[in-house]
Amino acid sequence: MSVQDEIKRLTAPDILARKHGEPIVSLTSYHAHTARLVDKYCDIILVGDSLGMVMHGFETTIPVTLDMMILQAHAVMRGSRRALVVIDMPFGSYEQSKEQAFASCARAMKETGCGAVKLEGGRRMAETIAFLVERGVPVMGHVGLTPQSINTLGSFRAQGRDEADWAPIEADAKAVADAGAFSIVLEAIAEPLGRKITKEVAIPTIGIGASAACDGQILVLEDMLGLSPRVPKFVRRYGELGPGIEAAISSYASDVRSRAFPGPEHVYPMRKKGG
Ligand code: KIV
Repeated sequence: MSVQDEIKRLTAPDILARKHGEPIVSLTSYHAHTARLVDKYCDIILVGDSLGMVMHGFETTIPVTLDMMILQAHAVMRGSRRALVVIDMPFGSYEQSKEQAFASCARAMKETGCGAVKLEGGRRMAETIAFLVERGVPVMGHVGLTPQSINTLGSFRAQGRDEADWAPIEADAKAVADAGAFSIVLEAIAEPLGRKITKEVAIPTIGIGASAACDGQILVLEDMLGLSPRVPKFVRRYGELGPGIEAAISSYASDVRSRAFPGPEHVYPMRKKGG
């Protein structure tokens, strides 16, 4: 690679410096081929534990393991060159203690070369976030609707719809920022609350069903492409790829069944003897 071709990957401090700057564009990706496309337009690629629901068909993100996250993060790192790649720490890999969190994050970073991790939780995770950051692990926080808490929340409902419920979510966001996180995902919270937290914290807020006033936005790629079976109400669909993919598979199946499938003679015709 020549010096001109060299592309420097964005880092967690680059993202932190974007507070009050150009909005931060983020999407999820779990594969090398989608990472290649997403990398052209996004500042952050999140290898989200949503892969459990989107790729593997689980009902929740709870069954996702660290091994699954590391495998897909390898693929995303190979497919991307410029975006900051962030790995979601899956349920059970970081909550037990700060030491458990450091061991899991260090493994993820060493094995994949990703630039940061994301973990869910506000005040209850603040001590762990500070511990990780002090030891060289850039952390993205995640508050509001935290899907790994589905079994205590009871549903994937939006949070903070009554003003009376705002205070704990604000306190969570502030605790994450004060602990040294470089950014924070605000998921499925009322618009004025997203706007308020964005004003209050010194780190970039990345909204998903939060507020257009956030410092950046993230969506699950398959949700916005119309490929996920169930999509949260707040997601704007930028494509409807499902029917196009199905039409292509159906044409292929009928070509094979009617023996209209092109053989290799078009690509590598038989050589004549002695030719
Ligand atoms: O797992 C995921 O994809 C996420 C985003 C929805 C923020 O956490």
